[in-house]
Amino acid sequence: MVALKFPDGFFWGASTSSHQVEGGQHNDWSEWEKLGKINDGTQSGRAVDHWYRYAEDFDIARSLGHNAHRFSIEWSRIEPQPGQWNEAALAHYRDVVRALRERGMEPFVTLWHFTNPVWFSASGGWESAEAPQQFERYVERVARALPDVTYWMTLNEPNVYALLSYLVGYWPPEVKHWRRALRVYQTMAQAHRLAYAAIKRADPKASVGMANSAINYVPARPSSFLDRWMARFCDRWYNRWFIEHTINELDFIGVNHYVRQGIRVRSLRHPIVTEPRGEPLTDYGWGICPEAMGKVVRSMWRYRKPLYITENGLADAKDQWRREVLKNVLIELHKAISGGVDVRGYLHWSLLDNFEWREGFAMRFGLVAVDFTTMERTVRESAKWFSGVCKNNRLET
Ligand code: FCB
Repeated sequence: MVALKFPDGFFWGASTSSHQVEGGQHNDWSEWEKLGKINDGTQSGRAVDHWYRYAEDFDIARSLGHNAHRFSIEWSRIEPQPGQWNEAALAHYRDVVRALRERGMEPFVTLWHFTNPVWFSASGGWESAEAPQQFERYVERVARALPDVTYWMTLNEPNVYALLSYLVGYWPPEVKHWRRALRVYQTMAQAHRLAYAAIKRADPKASVGMANSAINYVPARPSSFLDRWMARFCDRWYNRWFIEHTINELDFIGVNHYVRQGIRVRSLRHPIVTEPRGEPLTDYGWGICPEAMGKVVRSMWRYRKPLYITENGLADAKDQWRREVLKNVLIELHKAISGGVDVRGYLHWSLLDNFEWREGFAMRFGLVAVDFTTMERTVRESAKWFSGVCKNNRLET
């Protein structure tokens, strides 16, 4: 048996997002859910009632040895109408931060995770020229209200959002237009820059980044020039565009990584077809490939910014893969760290089973299983195993 030691002060924990766990949302997603858009016919509803149960959920995380936790602030609660601030909601998140600190867990706070206030969407959402300033105003307010937070992420996966909401049209507002998607890219990059400065004004010592989705793209047919070219194109536009356009306003890079994808150029009409590479599949149909984590962090390290894995995990209701996959992912991370890549934390997606966007409640990503009727929490076996790594800052292989 070999023990792989992680750097001192390494952050171990899990992630959630407001809309997926809190319950009781009133935002553009909850409005869209009412139109019957969710694949399993559900709505986020009470989600997993985390708004009321956060303290007991953090007790569980603490008992699992986590020393960090990532959660998001719901803009629609803080600013239900433009310029109208909900002090009670701000106080709630102050309590959330305090609850983490009391348990010795470092808060990693995301300011936007896919959901918008209804008024913001109605006035053009992320296509509007006003969006960056509107976001900045909200961020400044929150940053000043939560002085006890050091690690901030402005946006979660702007690349995923721009593509699914504005190019593929799978998420609200269901736009399918490449020019509009490009505009959203630009607006979100600008929103990040302004938000970065706003947080620094509130607290010059804050560490500010964003959480960007990173996929390991490989050509489906390595001998095909077109597949190789397109895999590089995807890497540029999906994995690296946001980072390169905000590089001066990133104290760290949050890496959300789940999957490796083969890229096949089938025809002019279908220039980018993604497919698994023969790996076993998760419940989501995403290929399981732990080595991809090593590839992704090495690729991101070219920017020489500290890296935090802000999401990584798998939909695995039966918990048949999670432990083995986690172990192999951590081995890959350890290898990368030993090779000089500055990875400072690993936050698993997710602490709890939750509302998985258009897929509804069907995908179970939690270290902790949730019975969506009784809201009962049950720690999965893989989470117990992971707790050993967190507590010892060491992986026994
Ligand atoms: C990421 C999202 C997160 C969750 C996981 C499975 O793209 O940031 O909210 O849905 O995927």
